[in-house]
Amino acid sequence: MRNDLANVPPMGWNSWNTFFDTYDESLIMEMADILVSEGYRDCGYQYLILDDCWLEKDRDPSGRLVPSRSRFSNGIEPVIRYIHDKGLKFGIYACCGVRTCAGYPGSFEHENQDALLFAKWGVDYLKYDNCHRPSSLGSELLYRRMSLALRNSGRDILLAACQWGTEDVRKWIRSTGAHTYRSTIDIRDSWNSIKSITEERLMDLEDGSTGCFNDMDMLVAGMYGQGSNPETTSEGCSFEEYQTHFALWAMLNSPLIIGCDLRHLDPSVKALLQNRDLIAINQDPEARTCYKLTCPCSPDAFTLVRPLAGGDYAVGIFNFAENEQQAGFPFWDLGLSARNNQRLHFYDCLSHQDLGTFTECFSAKVPAHGCRIYRVSLVPQLSVNQ
Ligand code: GLA
Repeated sequence: MRNDLANVPPMGWNSWNTFFDTYDESLIMEMADILVSEGYRDCGYQYLILDDCWLEKDRDPSGRLVPSRSRFSNGIEPVIRYIHDKGLKFGIYACCGVRTCAGYPGSFEHENQDALLFAKWGVDYLKYDNCHRPSSLGSELLYRRMSLALRNSGRDILLAACQWGTEDVRKWIRSTGAHTYRSTIDIRDSWNSIKSITEERLMDLEDGSTGCFNDMDMLVAGMYGQGSNPETTSEGCSFEEYQTHFALWAMLNSPLIIGCDLRHLDPSVKALLQNRDLIAINQDPEARTCYKLTCPCSPDAFTLVRPLAGGDYAVGIFNFAENEQQAGFPFWDLGLSARNNQRLHFYDCLSHQDLGTFTECFSAKVPAHGCRIYRVSLVPQLSVNQ
């Protein structure tokens, strides 16, 4: 068995944000085609995940889950084979209660049976939701149950706990064996939703790293108010806001799970989702957490700093204010001595350009709801006395 299922945050595409209950096998296979032909897979987006609504409303007489006959005319296994043949991995959705959030059969008291079925089908990733639980049972026990079942299913299956942050989930989720976990309510396609999920996440920055990542929910970048999901669709965001959203998820170690319709994607958003400099931060092998610096002159702006493997730092300056801000930080806040004029080299991860070297401090004009993201390295000194 492999044990590297979550050394770095998982990346992929999920049906929920845009398609709700309106997908079928041909749409899913089309998404698989696009993930490969348009370069997403090669950037790291490897999981294609079916969210809720893939089932018939009842189990079969022997208690097995039955894939929707209208969505999957030949069953689900040919679709999974198709996805695997493309070099992708397949994810599916289930729920720890008696019903899924959308009312399909849940896995409560069927955990082992369902895990074995998923393993037999070739499932690689299970999103495990938290609806319709018997009120006497806490979710901790139920996540342990599914984790145990998956770990004994004979297949490596990543467990993505969708727990929404109730019951102090941060304190116990890692010990259940889950590889990722949601700690906030569902995202919507709006700046307010992105902002409030981020603010909650910033309250516990040390949380979520290798082995069990904090999942800030699926990406809404590129939806622009479109989609058939009434729970996610909203007024949409500007490109600047989607860029900030993606950069925050990258900096904060969140899984990068695309949620928009890849068939009709604005080229600038496609370039954003495929920004290899931002993806490299998210997928950094050390998977360290960030620390936060406040901006004394701009209270609604802040800087996130994250040490990367090899010695570089990822630095993101974010502006949550309603107008442009000049925001930045003095280098002693990163640990540099104020006495010896050490220089830092800045590479801009949004424009992909070297900006040169700076001493003492750095600041930039950041538009409202915008960000600036840099890979920063210490310029070697020629001698210790310099
Ligand atoms: C919950 C989850 C969502 C989605 C829906 C499906 O709300 O948090 O991400 O999976 O259920 O019904």
